[in-house]
Amino acid sequence: MTVESVKPGASPTAGPRVPPVAGGGVPLLGHGWKLVRDPLAFMTRLRDHGDVVRLRLGPKTVYAVTTPALTGALALSPDYIIAGPLWESLEDLLGKEGVATANGPLHRRQRRTIQPAFRLDAIPGYGPIMEEEAHALTERWASGQIVDCTSESFRVAVRVAARCLLRSRLMDERAERLCAALSTVFRGMYRRMVVPLGPLYKLPFPANREFNRALADLHLLVDEIVAERRASGQKPDDLLTALLEAKDDNGDPIGEQEIHDQVVAILTPGSETIASAIMSLLQVLAAHPEHGDKVCDEVEAVTGGRPVAFQDIHRLSHTCNVVVETMRLHPSVWILTRRAVTDTELGGYRIPAGTDIIYSPYAIQRDPKSYERHLEFDPDRWRPERSKDIPKYAMRPFSVGNRKCPGDHFSMAMLTLITATLAARYRFERVAGSDDAVRIGITLHPNRLLLRSITR
Ligand code: HEM
Repeated sequence: MTVESVKPGASPTAGPRVPPVAGGGVPLLGHGWKLVRDPLAFMTRLRDHGDVVRLRLGPKTVYAVTTPALTGALALSPDYIIAGPLWESLEDLLGKEGVATANGPLHRRQRRTIQPAFRLDAIPGYGPIMEEEAHALTERWASGQIVDCTSESFRVAVRVAARCLLRSRLMDERAERLCAALSTVFRGMYRRMVVPLGPLYKLPFPANREFNRALADLHLLVDEIVAERRASGQKPDDLLTALLEAKDDNGDPIGEQEIHDQVVAILTPGSETIASAIMSLLQVLAAHPEHGDKVCDEVEAVTGGRPVAFQDIHRLSHTCNVVVETMRLHPSVWILTRRAVTDTELGGYRIPAGTDIIYSPYAIQRDPKSYERHLEFDPDRWRPERSKDIPKYAMRPFSVGNRKCPGDHFSMAMLTLITATLAARYRFERVAGSDDAVRIGITLHPNRLLLRSITR
């Protein structure tokens, strides 16, 4: 059965129903133009049309899920996999054998290999690097300086991920190259995913040349890092060692291509998402100075004035709530997709095999049915006495189920430490020329955020 073969309104009472078509489609393009023109508003309004709705994107029908409970059910169900045109274009650019696009037994094996590097008890081992990188920012940013938040956030995110997970003698120099390559690749990748113009991207325009150079350098850098580790004969306890020692289901070492693709598949989501979250946090600290002051007070109460350390994180509860509330209103990952592998059902709606389904953590996390004063920045809503009333799956910026982000504990530790370090040292002011508008790409972040850092 294909998605298109489902007749609207079939068996309305007996058995699962066919989801309604969302309103607002236009002939030929369907809902596509709205999704492209203003994706966040479009995804947010879908909840008014039903819990599961059908969208027409050109000739294709895609389903959208709009309630927290059903997004949880979708992410937890074995009836759906990662697949679809967006993922295929991602594989073309980043490689076909990485964990982010694998499914079934290969995905399970790959998750088993990488998981130890991300377990809760592995995170303190990254503490010294996270501390060093967070404090390095306070040495880089002089009082009164204008901080280009995009490049600075990207830089620290790449450095921490690369230094923690792929320890290397030369990582300082490599991290700078990785950073330059990844930021260019990310800028061009979203366009290639949503506007698949195929051969046009091969034409020798400056933007295409820059993108291709950056992509080639990213792959070259990963090869260099792997080759250097092999040549060193060293086996530090890190993700790269886990990948180099990994065995396939027959007990044989995994292939070179898989090692390469795995490093790329972990570094790319691991830098862009955190960088976007840091940009949003800086934006929030500038927009809500009272919360910056409160974070600063909390840090002082916990540290007594010494530099904030990794071990302090678990006592910085308000700081953590600022991070969580920022991720609620400004989630790095704003859209997720799945494909049904079998005829199935979701929330009483029939889902035919082959259906592509989308949902938006951005829309779910701003739903007034889940959150009082849903658009207000209110970190205290995460205090235990209040957060118990928030519906399950209404706040899952790292997703749930077998595709849940392996980097969740890593990210929360790093974001809390960076927020504490920066808010304890600076107040942030907006400056002329800063463009705070949201930039929609593979992740969400402010377009070009410029802030003045003023030492407290
Ligand atoms: C997957 C969010 C940081 C590595 C995911 C997914 C989400 C997510 C929502 C699930 C995608 C899906 O369900 O289809 C985030 C956010 C982060 C973050 C919001 C930080 C603010 C990281 C870091 C790493 C990482 C630091 C690694 C260094 C991955 C990988 C996957 C993934 C490898 C694919 C997992 C799989 O398919 O099994 N991330 N992530 N992420 N993330 Fe993260």
